[in-house]
Amino acid sequence: MQNVLITGAASGIGRDTARLFASAGWQCVLVDRNAQALEKVVRSLPAHGGVTHFPRVIDLTDRQQIASLAEGTPALDAILNNAGMTEPSTLPLIEQTPEQLQRLLALNLTAPAAVVDACAGLLRPGARVVNVSSGAGLAAIPWRGAYSPSKAGLIAQTMALAQARPDLCVTVLAPGFVRTELVESLIQSGRLVPEGAVAKIPLGRMAAPAEMARALFFLASAGARPLRGQILALNGGSSISGASRPYAPTTIDTLPLDGPVKLDVRGDHAGPWHSWAEASTGTTAYEACLDVSALSAPEGGLLQAVHLAATRFAGRHDQQASLTVLLPSRSTARWQAAGDAAAARMLVSTLACEWGSLALRINAVEVPEDLEPSQLHPLLAYVCGPAAQYLTGQTLRCRGSASQSEA
Ligand code: NAI
Repeated sequence: MQNVLITGAASGIGRDTARLFASAGWQCVLVDRNAQALEKVVRSLPAHGGVTHFPRVIDLTDRQQIASLAEGTPALDAILNNAGMTEPSTLPLIEQTPEQLQRLLALNLTAPAAVVDACAGLLRPGARVVNVSSGAGLAAIPWRGAYSPSKAGLIAQTMALAQARPDLCVTVLAPGFVRTELVESLIQSGRLVPEGAVAKIPLGRMAAPAEMARALFFLASAGARPLRGQILALNGGSSISGASRPYAPTTIDTLPLDGPVKLDVRGDHAGPWHSWAEASTGTTAYEACLDVSALSAPEGGLLQAVHLAATRFAGRHDQQASLTVLLPSRSTARWQAAGDAAAARMLVSTLACEWGSLALRINAVEVPEDLEPSQLHPLLAYVCGPAAQYLTGQTLRCRGSASQSEA
């Protein structure tokens, strides 16, 4: 049996994540300071083979309480540092006291490290640690106190942990807007105007907590290993958009996140990339295309290869489908050709912005030469499929076997 520890499990993203792990048969150690809500979540978890889950009522801003976490906690396959808070006041930063800043930093930045320290002895070989940061850690959100700084700090801390513990698989999720209690409270208090937020999102909607739960479930799995030390920005494309025109709200309903996928693999030498999805087809399946043609593009030909793949894809799909392009990770490219890879990545982002209102997604995965296709199948199954319907415009950089010893 696999075991996971999830913080902030009594509400929002953490609650949906706990339900997903429990329904997949994992044993859950659920941490929150809200005893009543946590108990309710534990009672609501699907019973699966008589598995007992552990509620742990802990205030994660209290180091002594965190230090007690290891007592009675089983060996762990994954830790999800999800608990976080936003600043309750709208005071400008310079009017905030050091104590106000410290309150946010204690939960959003200090606690994740303290949880890993407290549970270090319980981690099974190759265990996964996933920190939940925020899009606010990539671009500053004003009048939310130290929220953005705390989340930027968490991204940097994740990278440092990945370097320090290459034996683990350490990643960070940066969600965009998710309709949870946290966001509802911002809307109710007038601090977040949903129409204004959606206008900055190419996919034209906020995410459901279940979409974050799916991402966390993937990142907590052994198949996430090629992504160690990486950030997964799951935000409907908001972080890659520099558009000056507002995006329209989408009119297209999301398909079931656990539904089947109909995969089309394009490009020369497609064989090894195909096998993982052959069995999962269906009439109402989510349509996905994996295009591997850029892997054999000549030096300087990446942007054109991606453009061709996109043109082919758009000719076959009107709406609601995904295109994933594989890009070679070439560290030996001459500097004169270095602009081509960056241009290809930005083409992916630009296409995502243009296609978002049609729920057409595009992402790239950079593949090191020494990585076997089979090692990427779980990642591709997630990125291409319906579980990742909020992921677009991103280039995910994978680490190869040669970098097993470094994060
Ligand atoms: P939420 O407010 O719905 O849930 C947070 C949970 O953390 C609650 O159960 C709360 O009781 C618990 N918690 C708060 N302070 C605690 C403490 N001192 N000790 C123990 N538990 C504590 O939040 P949501 O929306 O589910 O967010 C989860 C994570 O995702 C947070 O880290 C948040 O910053 C991040 N995030 C959320 C986004 C959103 O749009 N909802 C966007 C980007 C990031």
